[in-house]
Amino acid sequence: MTAQLIDGVALSKQVRTEVAQRAAALTAKGVKPGLAVVLVGDNQASQVYVRNKVKACEDAGLHSVLEKYEATMSEADLLARVEALNNDPAIHGILVQLPLPKHIDDHKVIEAISPEKDVDGFHVASAGALMVGEKGFKACTPYGCMKMLESIGMKDLKGKHAVVIGRSNIVGKPMAMMLLQANATVTVCHSGTADLGAMTRQADVVVAAVGKRNVLTADMVKPGAVVIDVGMNRNDEGKLCGDVDFDGVKEVAGWITPVPGGVGPMTITMLLVNTLESAERAAS
Ligand code: GUN
Repeated sequence: MTAQLIDGVALSKQVRTEVAQRAAALTAKGVKPGLAVVLVGDNQASQVYVRNKVKACEDAGLHSVLEKYEATMSEADLLARVEALNNDPAIHGILVQLPLPKHIDDHKVIEAISPEKDVDGFHVASAGALMVGEKGFKACTPYGCMKMLESIGMKDLKGKHAVVIGRSNIVGKPMAMMLLQANATVTVCHSGTADLGAMTRQADVVVAAVGKRNVLTADMVKPGAVVIDVGMNRNDEGKLCGDVDFDGVKEVAGWITPVPGGVGPMTITMLLVNTLESAERAAS
């Protein structure tokens, strides 16, 4: 069996077109959705990420502001910038790019963002809202994975077993909560799991979010399962690859996301969705 691809580029295009239409309608009413992206320091990967986020905003007709600061910026100054953006009516979403320089407390900065503008979904209030099923911003990467499942007719996962590999606050934990909310039976595996393959072989849906190559190989996958690869790694030739042994697993799985061109573009897409929804809430 050869798996079907879940194309994150094509799905992103479709969702971004809808975002652009809704953004244009809101702009016509006098509210242009606005995202502020804050980058502190000169981390190479972060520079690429923030550039892509700002460009995606522009392409969808959203207002975006990129604030770049030296790595020496003090925590107090960054907190003051966040506060100013909280009070700026032209800004509906605030994203402080992580990682921050070591002298700045990530958690303190994230918690300073108003939950009404927390389009990353990283604030404790956003995580808590997801946990209890209240309205709040959903973390973009797992939210994108849910959209991908929806796109293949798997919006309701009643009767399905989903296995999440990874327990980070940014992906693994919110992913588990979203799958649970979609009625899946959910297992979260991590570095302390005794027999990962025994778990994943029971799964109808596997989400790999560890940040390590070949975490999931063909022998660990139930035939026909849906495999979502959140990993972003480099192979020995320097080529981008995920956490899943794509060539092996695609012969067993029913559906699989590629890397690149899978979850990655969906993460930015859901950031646009969150920013648009924040503006729509502010306008209503
Ligand atoms: N660093 C890597 N990914 C992300 C993300 O999605 N949001 C933020 N704020 N920082 C990141």
